[in-house]
Amino acid sequence: MKNIYSNIFKVNNKNLSNAVKYLKKNELVGVPTETVYGLAGNAYSDISIKKIFNLKKRPKKNPLIIHYYNKKDLINDVEVNQKFLKLYKHFCPGPLTFILKKKPFSKISNIATSKLNTVAVRFPGNKTIRRVLRELKLPLAIPSANKSSGISPIKAKDVYEEFGMKIKFILDGGSSKIGIESTVLDLTKKLKILRPGFIGVSEIKKIIKSNIPLVKNQKIIRSPGLLKKHYSPGIPMKLNQTSAKPTCAFIIFGKKYKKNKNTFNLSRSANLDEAARNLYTILRSIKKKKYKKIHVVKIPNIGLGIAINDRLKHAAY
Ligand code: TXA
Ligand code: MG
Repeated sequence: MKNIYSNIFKVNNKNLSNAVKYLKKNELVGVPTETVYGLAGNAYSDISIKKIFNLKKRPKKNPLIIHYYNKKDLINDVEVNQKFLKLYKHFCPGPLTFILKKKPFSKISNIATSKLNTVAVRFPGNKTIRRVLRELKLPLAIPSANKSSGISPIKAKDVYEEFGMKIKFILDGGSSKIGIESTVLDLTKKLKILRPGFIGVSEIKKIIKSNIPLVKNQKIIRSPGLLKKHYSPGIPMKLNQTSAKPTCAFIIFGKKYKKNKNTFNLSRSANLDEAARNLYTILRSIKKKKYKKIHVVKIPNIGLGIAINDRLKHAAY
């Protein structure tokens, strides 16, 4: 019998160089990062970028994050500034995405940036994706490897669940350590957090000592993930609940609620890091179990709880 996961490859030298070969040929590769799994394509190639948008069914207006090995590689593509340099030194490689100005002769595909004059750049910390970037010597556009508006994958098998054999190559680097997407920080005008993530406002403030608002209800879509339905299991979901009928999935946190067949605990020890890591896996399994409704208890809106609540709010949209 044919192995159904015949496009999932473990990390070794041979498979890494094959992944690099695919990317050089403008094919897409499923890759691990420390936040979530991504769908990687050559950021300089319109062909690759079109494949990403088509496969994800992603609206053309939603730009991609460009992933680099290190800051030297940015030189022809974006303008850096002092705040970027300070934050880079402190947090990179890691789960922080910067919005910077695109240089006029940048080679980044205009389709990848949705024709904006800005670029989202990130330097992922995961060892495997760093090895790929180092060997490839090209930047990669890497959105989360899920169909647009769906649940982000945190394992190679989740990527397979999303796209099956439509991608030829998925690198299996184990579960994503963080489990929730990077923080997106706009450094082009006034500092703004466009998407909360693992790195919090207070940590960023400590490094650059400025006030940073979290953008809510923006009129222009600058980070579409912030506005529309997103991270969604496609099941009606209610937040800040204290109970649920047995036919309704009940997402709980801590020890206050009784364990039951329909309960899914984000973290029994009320640990927000653990809750972030479990969030998408729990949403995926609720979807598979075909529940018709989801209730979620109140999650503390501090630290990583801010990013978790952001994802829950969009999932409930
Ligand atoms: O953790 C992550 O960032 C993951 C991993 C795979 O690296 N990637 C990820 O990509 O979450 P994606 O495509 O799912 O989300 C990218 C977000 C979107 O909300 C998009 O609107 C925003 O970044 N974005 C990209 N370019 C932008 C730009 N120039 N200005 C404002 N927002 C931008
Ligand atoms: Mg995404």
